[in-house]
Amino acid sequence: MESPAEDKQAPSFNRLRVVAFEARMAAETAALIRRFGGRPTIAPAMREVPLEDNYAALDFAMRLLEGRVDVAIFLTGVGVRELFRVMVTRYERARLVGALARIITVARGPKPVAALRELAIEPTVTIAEPNTWREILSTLSARVELAGKRVAVQEYGVSNRELLAGLEARGAEVTAVPVYRWTLPADRAPLIAALRAIAAGDADVAIFTSSNQVINVMQMAEAEGIGAEFRGGLARMVVASIGPVCSDQLRTNAIAIDLEPEHPRLGHLIKEAATRSAEILAGKRAPSSRAQAAEPRPREPARRQTPAAGNFSLRDHPMLKACRREPVPYTPVWLMRQAGRYMPEYRRVRERHSFLEMCQQPDLAAEITVTAVERLGVDAAIIFADILLPLVPMGVGLRYEGGDGPVIERPLRSIADIEKIPPIAAADSLAFVADAIRFVRRALADRTPLIGFAGAPFTLASYLVEGGSSRQYQATKTLMYNDPAAWHRMMEMIARVTTDYLNLQVDAGADVIQLFDSWVGSLGPDDYRRFVLPHTRSVIAAVRPAVPVIHFGTITGNLLELMREAGGDVIGLDWRVDLAQAWARLGYDVGVQGNLDPVALFAEPEEIRRRARAILDLAAGRPGHIFNLGHGILPETPVDHVIALVDAVHEMSRR
Ligand code: CP3
Repeated sequence: MESPAEDKQAPSFNRLRVVAFEARMAAETAALIRRFGGRPTIAPAMREVPLEDNYAALDFAMRLLEGRVDVAIFLTGVGVRELFRVMVTRYERARLVGALARIITVARGPKPVAALRELAIEPTVTIAEPNTWREILSTLSARVELAGKRVAVQEYGVSNRELLAGLEARGAEVTAVPVYRWTLPADRAPLIAALRAIAAGDADVAIFTSSNQVINVMQMAEAEGIGAEFRGGLARMVVASIGPVCSDQLRTNAIAIDLEPEHPRLGHLIKEAATRSAEILAGKRAPSSRAQAAEPRPREPARRQTPAAGNFSLRDHPMLKACRREPVPYTPVWLMRQAGRYMPEYRRVRERHSFLEMCQQPDLAAEITVTAVERLGVDAAIIFADILLPLVPMGVGLRYEGGDGPVIERPLRSIADIEKIPPIAAADSLAFVADAIRFVRRALADRTPLIGFAGAPFTLASYLVEGGSSRQYQATKTLMYNDPAAWHRMMEMIARVTTDYLNLQVDAGADVIQLFDSWVGSLGPDDYRRFVLPHTRSVIAAVRPAVPVIHFGTITGNLLELMREAGGDVIGLDWRVDLAQAWARLGYDVGVQGNLDPVALFAEPEEIRRRARAILDLAAGRPGHIFNLGHGILPETPVDHVIALVDAVHEMSRR
C-alpha cells in the first residue's frame, strides 16, 4: 500500500484491530501494537488473587497440621511456591515444613523437587520422566499403599482428572488443592466488551500471552453465553499465542493457533503478528476459503433467556416488581435448589469437589449459580451456598455426608455449649459467599436478579441442637422447654450472625433475600409466637430496607399469619396449602411464592402444565405472585421437565 513502512516491508498491522488480554504488561502491550501500526484494545483477563482468598490452600494447611493428610502430591514448581506463599499467611512455615516431613511427599518432576528443596523438604517419591499422570500412578502403585490413604493433590491452573480418578480407583480419599494466583479482573466490562466484539466479527487479531488468560477468557465467554460465537469469531481472526503452554491451553479449548513466535517474548510475538497477520487474514477471509470458519463448533447447551431478557433496568425486572406487588407482564418463576444434583452440570463439578469446596470457591459457586439460570431460563438466580455455612465458623464440626445429609459433630445441648461459640464476623469467615455474589452479579450483568439467603433462626437452631436432620426435633424442643433462657440466648446468637451474613450478601449485590425456615412447621402456634417469632422478626427487620425479603417455611399451614407477623414482603408457601386460601388469609398486602409439589415434576410435561396452570389460576393474576415449588427440587428430577415447567409458567401467565 501507500505507507512508506509497507514499501520497505517493515512489519505492520496496517491498522488492523488487535485485541490483547494481557493485564500486568497492559500498557507495554498497547504501545507495542501501536508501534507496529495496529489499533489496540487491551482487555485484561486476569487479576492477582489476594493470598487470603485461596481457601483450598488454607484448608489443606489446616488438614496437614491436624494430621489429616497422608500423602501430598506436588505437580508444579510454581504451584508449590504459591501454595506456601498462601499457607504462611496463616500458619508458621516451620510447622508446615515439619508436618510435610512426617507424611509421604511426591514430586512430579525436577521443578517441584527444586521448589520443595528450597523449603528444605526432600520429597519421599520423585516421579521419573516424562512424569505424566501415568508415571505418577504407576510409581505410586509400586511404592505406596494408596487404599484408605488421604491424598492431597496440589494443582496449578487446570486440574488433572485422570490423575484424580486413578488415585480414587486405587482406594485413596482424594482432595484436589487448586492454588489460584490469578482470577478474573474486578472490572470485567472491558473484557466482556472485547469478547462480544470478537464474537461479532469486529476484531482482526487476538493476542494471548498466558495460559491462565485463555482459561479466564473462555470462562467469561461461556458465562456470557457467547462461547460458540466467540470461538467462531476467533476462527475468522488471527490467533497469536506467546508460547507452547499457552498454545496447549488454546488447543484444549478447541481454538486453532495461527502463530507462535520462536522465542516466547511479548516483543517477538507482536512483531511476528504484525508481519504475518495480513497474509493469514487474506487466507481465512477469502470468499473461497473453507478455513477454520467451517470448523464444527464444540457442543454446548443452549443458553435460555427469560422473556424479560432485553432492554430494561434490573429494578423493573418482573421478579423484583412481583416482590413489590407491582403488575408484571408475566409471572416470574425460579425454583428452590435450582442448582443441584438433578443437573448434570452440577454433578460434573461435584465429582471433583466436595460440596463445601464448591461453596467456598467463589469461582465455582458463581459458575454453578449462573449455569442453572442459563440452563433453565428462570427469572432469578439464587447464590450457590447453604443455610448451614455459618455453622463452619461456629466450630461445631459441620460435615456433609454422602446421602445422609449434614452432620454436626458437636451439637449444642446446654447453655455451656452455647456460650463456647466464638463471636463470628460474617465479613471475614463468610467472605467467600460475598465474593461469589460479586462474581455472579458481574456475570449476569443487569439481566437477572440474584437472591441471597440464609436459614431462619429456628431451622438453624434445629441443626445445631439435633446435630443433623431430624424427624421429631426432640432435642431442640427439649432445650426450648427446659431452659428457655438458654434457648433465647442461642436464638439471639444465631439471629446476630444471620443478620450480618444477610447484609454482607446484600452489600455484595444480592437483590432479594430469602429466609428459609424449612423446619418451623414442627411447632405449634404458641411455641412459634414465644420461641421463634421475635428472633425471626429481628432478622427480617434488620435486612437493609431496599431489599425485599421472602420468608419461606414448610408445613406452615397453621403458622401463616404468625410468619407474616414476623415479617417478609413475600411469604413462601409449600404445596400442602391452597394458594388462593393462603393468600386470602395472609392478606393481599403481602406477596406469595409457590407452590407446586416438587414431586409433580416427575409427572409427564402435560400433567406438569395442568398443575402449573391450576396454581396460576389460584393466583388469579394478582400482583405479587412468584411461581416456585413448595420446596426444593429433588435430586432425581428430570431436567427437561423442569425446563418444561419454566416455559409453561412463562407462556401461560403472559398478560
Ligand atoms: O439452588 C439453590 O437453591 C441454592 C443452593 C441451596 C443449597 N441449599 C445447596 C445444597 C440452598 C438455597 C440450600 C438451602 C438449604 N440447605 C436448606 C433450606 C431449604 C430446604 O431444602 O428446606 C436446608 C434445610 C439446607 C441444609 C442442607 N444442605 C441439607 C439438609 C442438605 C443435604 C440434603 C440434600 O439435599 O443433599 C444440604 C446439602 C446441599 N445444599 C446440597 C446442595 C446442592 C447437596 C450437596 C451435595 O451435592 O451432596
